[in-house]
Amino acid sequence: MDKLVEVSNESIGRNRRNSIYIGENSQILSQLQQNYKIIYIDAPYNTGDEVFFDQEKNSWSHQVDWTEMIYSRVKQCYNLLDDNGVILFSIDDHELVSVRKILDNIFGKVNYLTTFVWRRRNFSDAHEDYISCDHEYIVCYSKSKLKYLQKKISTWINCEDTLNYREDGFTDLIGSNQASARNHINKLFNNQVVTNYPKPVNLLTSLFSIFVEDGDRILDIFAGSGTTGEACMEISSQNNISVNFTLIQISKPKNNKLIHDVANLTVQRNKQAYKSISKKYAKLDGFSVYLISSLREENIFRNIGENYEK
Ligand SMILES: C[S@@+](CC[C@H](N)C(=O)[O-])C[C@H]1O[C@@H](n2cnc3c(N)ncnc32)[C@H](O)[C@@H]1O
Repeated sequence: MDKLVEVSNESIGRNRRNSIYIGENSQILSQLQQNYKIIYIDAPYNTGDEVFFDQEKNSWSHQVDWTEMIYSRVKQCYNLLDDNGVILFSIDDHELVSVRKILDNIFGKVNYLTTFVWRRRNFSDAHEDYISCDHEYIVCYSKSKLKYLQKKISTWINCEDTLNYREDGFTDLIGSNQASARNHINKLFNNQVVTNYPKPVNLLTSLFSIFVEDGDRILDIFAGSGTTGEACMEISSQNNISVNFTLIQISKPKNNKLIHDVANLTVQRNKQAYKSISKKYAKLDGFSVYLISSLREENIFRNIGENYEK
């Protein structure tokens, strides 16, 4: 099994209780020792045009069975969840039914908590002739049926910037749309387009805040631009607590002038977030970056562009 080695040049901050692992997630999951309060999964949605990593062939391929790929990883995740932990799984209409079946099978139907609904765009999708599907889901199961929640929460996620308290005593969660999430990240990189489908930070802070307490850890095994890391840092800073993250992101070349590998985006975006949030919250924990030893550090962390100061 490939070892994990620290890339100390890319690690940042004091008290490095957070981690970013670069490599294929099932390989890294088998080496993790800790347990997590929340495991967030935002895998490719299997919309028809994606490639997935084929472990046997060690290459990207259209031939990988999405359901099997997800099933085996959720199974690994289940073993890493706290007894009172939850899994949050982002998905759209393409595979919602498969996700429910997989999670029913692994967690048991009785441990289904709910499905949140998030409006991801405010304008119709020009590619759709008749129906523009503008929402997505976050499916939620607990390891053992949760007996209490602190607040009355609605499953509706509002794209407003303020919490929507309703007359019936329930609260709608908040979450910006995908376009503002994209702008948020691009702004960190001199307004250059570095990513297309990130989740908004406030979507994840709203969701995670339902379940976490001081000292909890959150694992994200398809980290992408690493929104989960920034969301954990925001929750910690806003509540004067410590909510830690572990992110896993595969190395994948990117056709982008500034960022040549998605895993580098995960790291640089969280470095930017750390630098900005630690200014207002000095107790913020830093993070360490680890790489699967078969990968070459210089291929991932190549010069990320002249105009951008690392
Ligand atoms: C939908 S994106 C996640 C977006 C993320 N939530 C954000 O806010 O930016 C899924 C990510 O998982 C990564 N990925 C795909 N297969 C993987 C694997 N086997 N191991 C680790 N990461 C993987 C992809 O490269 C992609 O960046």
